[in-house]
Amino acid sequence: MSVETHTKKITINTFMKKKESKQKISMLTAYDCSTAKYFDEAGVDALLVGDSLGMVILGYDSTHKVNMTDMKVFTGAVSRGTKNCMVVADMPFMSYHTTVEEAVKNAGELIIAGASAVKLEGATEHILNVVQRCVESGIPVMGHLGFTPQYLNVLGGYKIQGKSAKKTEFILTQSLKLQDAGAFSVVLEMVPEESAKYITEKLSIPTIGIGAGKYTDGQILVADDVLGKYSEFKPKFARKYANLADTIKNAASNYVLDVNSGSFPDDSEVFHLPDNETAELLELKK
Ligand code: KIV
Repeated sequence: MSVETHTKKITINTFMKKKESKQKISMLTAYDCSTAKYFDEAGVDALLVGDSLGMVILGYDSTHKVNMTDMKVFTGAVSRGTKNCMVVADMPFMSYHTTVEEAVKNAGELIIAGASAVKLEGATEHILNVVQRCVESGIPVMGHLGFTPQYLNVLGGYKIQGKSAKKTEFILTQSLKLQDAGAFSVVLEMVPEESAKYITEKLSIPTIGIGAGKYTDGQILVADDVLGKYSEFKPKFARKYANLADTIKNAASNYVLDVNSGSFPDDSEVFHLPDNETAELLELKK
């Protein structure tokens, strides 16, 4: 199957143009250089170095333990793998909540690490100030509303958000505030399709949905869900396009069989001494 891939660097302007021309925006998370390269070559518009890496890569049970050092390392790796994709880095828990100055400094470090934009969760007065100051400093910001994993303990678990007209209106108000503060797009996570459609139609910036139905301007999924590599937890909306868990397990068990049976390595997989050196070696042995 041939895939129409992009040949031009994706920017925040591409996001706006796609919304205006009703073309969908495709996003995936990515955490390492080689996967980022394949996603870029496949034509994904933008890659999010999500703090979900805490769960899918580092084995934590939430995103809370991910820190700035982690985010800079993984952002660097992903950006080195991409040519055209836009790279967005998540601001980790507590890296933007204390002061606006600290938040802007941390956002700047993610840009220096290789991101073209940062993403942060929520829309409190403080967050809106952070968004505004980042944008004034040249740092594009993607918002994140609906289910916001960094607020897991306040939300009381993995729960669908915006489940009534009133709650949908609240998310819309938050989205409009982010838009006014200068955010270039907003992720809507785990909200009913009707709510996401309503919000998307009222915003001039693109919405990127995850578990938010088909009417958002773009979609994002966690790479390890799409690739069938993360098995701890399977959200309803996470469509699986590959089964890397089985591929990896089969490869590793075949390797173990070959090592144990002595069939690895074979003659094509070893280095040899020149004949004269082998002869000398045999002499030394005597
Ligand atoms: O960290 C992440 O992967 C995310 C996506 C779920 C949007 O924030």
